[in-house]
Amino acid sequence: MEQPFVFGVPAEDPHFIGREKEMARLETNFKYGVNTVLMSPRRWGKTSLVNRAVRSIKEKGRIVVQMDIFACRSEYDFYNTFAAAVLQQTASRIDEWKNLAKGFIERLTPKISLSPDPGTTYSVSLGITPKTHTPEEILSLPEIIAERKNSELIICIDEFQQVGEFPDSLSVQKRLRSIWQHQKHVSYCLYGSKLHMMTRLFQRKSYPFYRFGEVLNLEPIPLQTWIPYIQGRFMAFGKKIEEKYIKQICDIVSYQASYVQQLSYSVLLFSEKEATDESFIQAVDDLLAQNNNVFIEQTQSLTTYQLNFLRAVLDGVSSRFGEAAIREQYNLGSPSNITRLKTSMTEKELVELTEKGIVIGDPVLKLWLDKIL
Ligand SMILES: Nc1ncnc2c1ncn2[C@@H]1O[C@H](COP(=O)(O)OP(=O)(O)O)[C@@H](O)[C@H]1O
Ligand SMILES: [Mg+2]
Repeated sequence: MEQPFVFGVPAEDPHFIGREKEMARLETNFKYGVNTVLMSPRRWGKTSLVNRAVRSIKEKGRIVVQMDIFACRSEYDFYNTFAAAVLQQTASRIDEWKNLAKGFIERLTPKISLSPDPGTTYSVSLGITPKTHTPEEILSLPEIIAERKNSELIICIDEFQQVGEFPDSLSVQKRLRSIWQHQKHVSYCLYGSKLHMMTRLFQRKSYPFYRFGEVLNLEPIPLQTWIPYIQGRFMAFGKKIEEKYIKQICDIVSYQASYVQQLSYSVLLFSEKEATDESFIQAVDDLLAQNNNVFIEQTQSLTTYQLNFLRAVLDGVSSRFGEAAIREQYNLGSPSNITRLKTSMTEKELVELTEKGIVIGDPVLKLWLDKIL
């Protein structure tokens, strides 16, 4: 059954819209072996975009290895995921591995386990440890395979910000960078959310990944691209929506792609034949209700100071936290407490540091807090 709108999974046809410029850029970088770093807040469409660019470049015969390292907690966790993806996605048969990864796989005793995830039937854990392989050997594997296959490899790593959380992360980053930058036949596309972490990894001079590749910041999909899509989806389900409601949908969720899709879906459900003021209001309430549990969980353990800090941000205070009047008005404690609050609240991803100062990144969380605080 075709869905009216999609959210929570990467967008594909017919739901993938816009992004022509970003697609072209990514494809060009893939083609010429230019490393790319793609950042945006969560659920703006990074995974959807890279998936699509990857599909298109694969159709042109390029070899791409894609992996998601969200679940990796340490350097060797990462190496296991990395090597498994590289092996699985560069060769289709075991005997092919024997040639391609000669010198590497002989030391492995892969454990194949049934996955609890019903989508994939098994998972391979290669059993790589510091005793079996050095980091250099693992990180050089793609270059060796590329040479043996006489081709270029593109490696896409989703949720790359996780690397910043590994124990002894800086040394890990140094190792990755120093090996990757000398590879001639392999290029990398590293993408992730958690902007404070991605920015730290890639845009601070003192960090190993500084200037590793071209940095692309994903912009929101504009209204003019949403209009024909949303109207088309309504039409496909026998309903209608005027442009002004589409603008309201986009505005209220600050153009965050996933929420635009989710809210459009609710508006569609609440509209009998055509979107109206009532169906729009009902849909917004519905969106808040659907996110209620997540937001409660995100905020229930906050301290009084942290809640006060949220109140200040909600009132539009974005940078003047140090001022005595503000600290008193919101009861934020000492200036050093403010520093701690900024760090802890950013790490909890309740607030984000932008050019405009500190803001609440999630537009629906903002609506929700507006109601309860
Ligand atoms: N190009 C797009 N066109 C339409 N909707 C999109 C697009 N990209 C993302 N979305 C919406 O945003 C959601 C999250 O996309 P995803 O690619 O998983 O984001 P990210 O990887 O940045 O977290 C999708 O489920 C979909 O609802
Ligand atoms: Mg993603």
